[in-house]
Amino acid sequence: MQLIPIIIFFIILFIIIIVLFKLYQILTLGYCTSPNRMNGKVVIISGANAGIGFETAKDLATRGARVILACRNEIKGRKAQEIIKQETGNNEVVYKQLNLSSLQSVKDFVDDIYVTENHLDVLINNAGVVRQNNHHTKDGIIEDMQINYFAHYLLTLLLLPLLKQSQPSRIINVTSCLHIFGVIDFNKINLSNYYNYFRVYCNSKLCNVLFTVELAKRLEGSGVVVNCVHPGVVKTTIVKSLSFIMSKLVTFYFYLFFKTPYEGAQTTIHVAVSDECKSINGKYFSDCKECRMTCKARDSKLTAKLWEYSANLVKLNNYEK
Ligand SMILES: *[C@@H]1O[C@H](CO)[C@@H](O)[C@H](O)[C@H]1NC(C)=O
Ligand SMILES: *[C@@H]1O[C@H](CO)[C@@H](O)[C@H](O)[C@H]1NC(C)=O
Ligand SMILES: *[C@@H]1O[C@H](CO)[C@@H](O)[C@H](O)[C@H]1NC(C)=O
Repeated sequence: MQLIPIIIFFIILFIIIIVLFKLYQILTLGYCTSPNRMNGKVVIISGANAGIGFETAKDLATRGARVILACRNEIKGRKAQEIIKQETGNNEVVYKQLNLSSLQSVKDFVDDIYVTENHLDVLINNAGVVRQNNHHTKDGIIEDMQINYFAHYLLTLLLLPLLKQSQPSRIINVTSCLHIFGVIDFNKINLSNYYNYFRVYCNSKLCNVLFTVELAKRLEGSGVVVNCVHPGVVKTTIVKSLSFIMSKLVTFYFYLFFKTPYEGAQTTIHVAVSDECKSINGKYFSDCKECRMTCKARDSKLTAKLWEYSANLVKLNNYEK
């Protein structure tokens, strides 16, 4: 009988905490306030058919950019293309197939870009997944690691000549604050089913951050800047690849704490278009503000080693033009 008031007390406490959290989130939310237009600029966004990628694409199309939606699923990609064209009145919205599970697809995509585009102003490495089975792709890489990191590594490096030729240009890597839970162990990174899907996600996001730091160093003075952004916890379709119960749990969790994809896209847009970010290089942004990244990212031996490891895994030399 004593139990009921206690349970009610905890339920009320829980609700108060959630409301306070939501309030905090609303008050700290960063919005991109830059009015900059993007007319004449070419932007590539991976995973642009849904969620943050879609909202980012729509915003940049509104600003007048030529936006290339790089997505795996042609039907969803073309549908997103139609919606964005209709809503923004911008006809320069293009769909091109990019299947990050296949390095050959990355290479074909890039070959096509070199045929149709003579410059590239912004590359947004946005696509990301969380799955439950971590098997190797045909390329011999754990699939989630390949989609979230290694294929983007290859994509970025193959597009670098075009980005350099189009300076000032920008590369943006969408990562996650979960990168702080990531570890890089070169003996284990390529083992199937060694890490659970959550760890694989964190590891791949740490790779994004380390790579940003290393590439920024290599791009110093080239007119190309590279930064990474944490979009916040956003309700996206990323959960669709989880099992039914897990996806329900994650969806509930997102429901309590999420930002909308539109809100989640703000930091990426800010880093892509604002004058403040024109010459900032190798930094980490959250809520449209520069933030500290994990101390692991300051380990220059680790960032250099990951670069070499990645080049080897994607067989970079075979692809270089
Ligand atoms: C993407 O590539 C993988 C590996 O080559 C392949 O198994 C899969 O069917 C491809 N998906 C699409 C939609 O093309
Ligand atoms: C990664 O693992 C796969 C499957 O075991 C293997 O084929 C591939 O060579 C490995 N790659 C590296 C660089 O260790
Ligand atoms: C992000 O960082 C570099 C460029 O900074 C790129 O080569 C890397 O593959 C990018 N993508 C991701 C998702 O890490």
